[in-house]
Amino acid sequence: MRMNIMSNLYELNDLKNRYKLTNIQISKITGYSISSVKKWFLKDVDQNRKLVPDRAIRLFREWQKNPVLANGSAKVIVISNQKGGCGKTTLSLNFAKMLSMDGNKVLAIDNDTQANLTYTMLGGLNYPPQESSTLLHLGKHIVPSKISDSLYCIGADENLMDIDKKSAIEVLFNFRDGIRRLINEYSFEYVIIDSPPSLGNIFISGLIASDYIVIPVYPETYHMQGLISLMQKIRVAQQPGLSPNLKILGIILNRVNKGTIVTQNIREQLIESFPELVFRNEISQSTAVIESQTPKYSNSIVEYAKIEKRKGEKVSQEFEMVLNEMLDKIKYYEEK
Ligand SMILES: Nc1ncnc2c1ncn2[C@@H]1O[C@H](COP(=O)(O)OP(=O)(O)O)[C@@H](O)[C@H]1O
Ligand SMILES: [Mg+2]
Repeated sequence: MRMNIMSNLYELNDLKNRYKLTNIQISKITGYSISSVKKWFLKDVDQNRKLVPDRAIRLFREWQKNPVLANGSAKVIVISNQKGGCGKTTLSLNFAKMLSMDGNKVLAIDNDTQANLTYTMLGGLNYPPQESSTLLHLGKHIVPSKISDSLYCIGADENLMDIDKKSAIEVLFNFRDGIRRLINEYSFEYVIIDSPPSLGNIFISGLIASDYIVIPVYPETYHMQGLISLMQKIRVAQQPGLSPNLKILGIILNRVNKGTIVTQNIREQLIESFPELVFRNEISQSTAVIESQTPKYSNSIVEYAKIEKRKGEKVSQEFEMVLNEMLDKIKYYEEK
């Protein structure tokens, strides 16, 4: 036992020297917090030295197959909620398009077998996509589809369902490492990940890959009930060995009917339960959003509003305000 434990430390020390890694970088590769990593390298046991877990070594060996250090300055944002219909795909699509229209280089990744984002971004004729997010999970090097100079997309296909059944932790980290390789290769500034309506492995792989999570909520009682289990899962993902630096950016109320009592109640309930997390800006229920996603437009609400003018302007402004609020929150975390 003891031999094995010490050999983990020797192996890690060797890697640390070979790749000239800092403790922060080791934390990013293994998913253990920086303070845990520091404790692995303490000189003597009395100083609270901690043993290097086998899992950290396994993840290091995976990482070595293609050693990329981190997300760089890119921001990886996952949009999640196990409830369907709250607007995960709508927000992913619109945020990705709006960020790219603002001059950022953006990668949108569909992590849902239903492939709604894939259809809207790439068009039905391109389904199934040649290189899907399934391949990222399998550790393959892939080429994202180019939509414009500043917008790329990795679509989803039905094979992604098999990933949900594979429990190997390495598969989940493959997704993260694949994204990091692409960030380095293409100099992406934002990566937006759309999530499935479940709390399975694919959902977890999205959390492990991300710096930030955004939670859209449809103001309805059953949707509220799901939030508790979602928050519990996020806390699990934030543990050492997974994604200790993942931050919850907040909860965005979407498809809001402003005047109704149920909306008012749910807003109050949310603010009471998660006072720091609820976005001040909200997005209304609007047929313009549904229309903007039909094959006729297949576009962001901002671009739809440019064509349809008054029909889309109000909700398009709401999307802009929500996006700005999200970017302010990111800035706050980055400056902290
Ligand atoms: N603000 C909104 N107003 C009206 N319809 C919306 C709005 N946001 C989303 N929708 C519609 O609701 C449905 C579900 O949204 P979607 O983004 O697919 O949710 P999810 O990905 O969470 O399942 C879609 O038909 C979408 O067009
Ligand atoms: Mg969806």
